[in-house]
Amino acid sequence: MTSFFISHNNIGDNMKILITGSTSGIGFETGVELIKKGHFVYFTVHREQQVKTVVEKLKKQNLLDRASVFQLDITKEEDRKLIYDLKIDCLFCNASVGYGGSILDIPMDSLEKNFEVNVFSNIKLIQMYCGHLFLTQEKGKVVVMSSIAGIIPIPFLGSYCATKASLISLTTCLRKELKLITSDIQVKLIEPGIFNTGFNEVMIENKKKSIYFEKMNDQITRREEKLFHLIGHNQLNSITSKITKAIESDSNRFIYSAPFFQKLGAKLYSFWH
Ligand SMILES: NC(=O)c1ccc[n+]([C@@H]2O[C@H](COP(=O)([O-])OP(=O)(O)OC[C@H]3O[C@@H](n4cnc5c(N)ncnc54)[C@H](OP(=O)(O)O)[C@@H]3O)[C@@H](O)[C@H]2O)c1
Repeated sequence: MTSFFISHNNIGDNMKILITGSTSGIGFETGVELIKKGHFVYFTVHREQQVKTVVEKLKKQNLLDRASVFQLDITKEEDRKLIYDLKIDCLFCNASVGYGGSILDIPMDSLEKNFEVNVFSNIKLIQMYCGHLFLTQEKGKVVVMSSIAGIIPIPFLGSYCATKASLISLTTCLRKELKLITSDIQVKLIEPGIFNTGFNEVMIENKKKSIYFEKMNDQITRREEKLFHLIGHNQLNSITSKITKAIESDSNRFIYSAPFFQKLGAKLYSFWH
């Protein structure tokens, strides 16, 4: 396992935040924003070769002295255990995968893999982090990345939507349960709309063509591409600033969402369904 630890003295009162799946996209950009606000960030990546990529990107921006970069595959127990060696004020569970496909014939291993990464591995990591906080009697914060796709189920992307809906339920229960026994661990939920990071394109491309929808497969893919192209935001700052707020805030607010009109759309959808 490759790691790139930098000594981080003189952090003062600023927070130390661990972000999973932060090679690029929302996780990486949030990490950059947090460093610029004076925090220390553990950028953790899925694959070993991504360590170098992130180190280079941070070096270019002169931000490496307030960061550690290392591999943490959230599905691997030995990687998850790395958190025991760190002082983490906030765990940001950002990593996920998306598998597209019809519910009628999505391969069971895709559905299982989707839940293994997005739901089971995230919950295992959260259990370990919270357990460690109780043991060491430290304060902490859990920030969970869901999606408006967890509120609005999108046909042919049902597997991914279901994992995000599960995360909404589980995170809501986690927060309510923790409140009964401690005020020292805060929980926040992030529900972004559509952003053009490449994540959605991978999900559209990786779906196996359905035999039930044989005549419609291409049309479905085109419709999805059009939807993401039309609605997707290229700039990530609306969501990274909300996540930063969630991480820094001491308030009782639970859900943070952006961009505004997609959040409004999700609210209206919940109202009518
Ligand atoms: N983009 C959107 O429209 C959107 C909307 C709502 C919510 N979200 C959520 O926002 C989060 C970040 O997504 P993004 O759009 O910024 O795309 P992204 O950059 O692809 O982020 C997902 C990250 O998770 C990593 N990952 C996958 N499996 C992992 C594992 N087993 N262990 C550790 N890391 C793993 C990926 O690494 P590899 O690429 O190497 O697999 C990738 O770095 C995700 O939770 C996503 O569901 C995105």
